[in-house]
Amino acid sequence: MENISIISTFTAFNSVNELPEDVKMLMQQAVEIRKKSYAPYSKFHVGAALLLDNGEIVLGSNQENAAYPSGLCAERVAVFYAGATYPEANILKIAISAASEEKKVEEPIPPCGACRQSIAEYEMKQDIPIEIYFMGEAGKVYKSDSLKNLLPLVFENKYL
Ligand code: THU
Repeated sequence: MENISIISTFTAFNSVNELPEDVKMLMQQAVEIRKKSYAPYSKFHVGAALLLDNGEIVLGSNQENAAYPSGLCAERVAVFYAGATYPEANILKIAISAASEEKKVEEPIPPCGACRQSIAEYEMKQDIPIEIYFMGEAGKVYKSDSLKNLLPLVFENKYL
């Protein structure tokens, strides 16, 4: 028997102002698209902005539904749109911003498990790591150099 430990390393920025200029602009777009999210039930608004290697920026926001599980997270709205529209392009960076109507969200909000699995699919397909930056409404921004940090022991298509 042996123990296996998996270490994930993230970079913490104290605010958006510490981000590289291109990422700061990407995060600003995540904030703007977040404001258009449709979240009448949770009142929790999420925006995602993707930078593709063809120069395109793809945006998504969470879209809720009265039949709750029919809604979709911002990250998957964005990555599925990117996959559908630019199937040949690689995703280089993702910026995520979240805010609640009920309280100020000052901690970085990471993508949910289902979004991690969906992003993992594209990272494995393109074989280029995706930088993921996530934050709340204000405060710290966390960066992961690859989706793998967020989802160790990911389920891969090679198992099929
Ligand atoms: N949500 C996202 O858009 N992304 C995540 O990674 C976590 C959760 C949305 C789904 C739902 O509309 C609301 O936030 C509350 O869960």
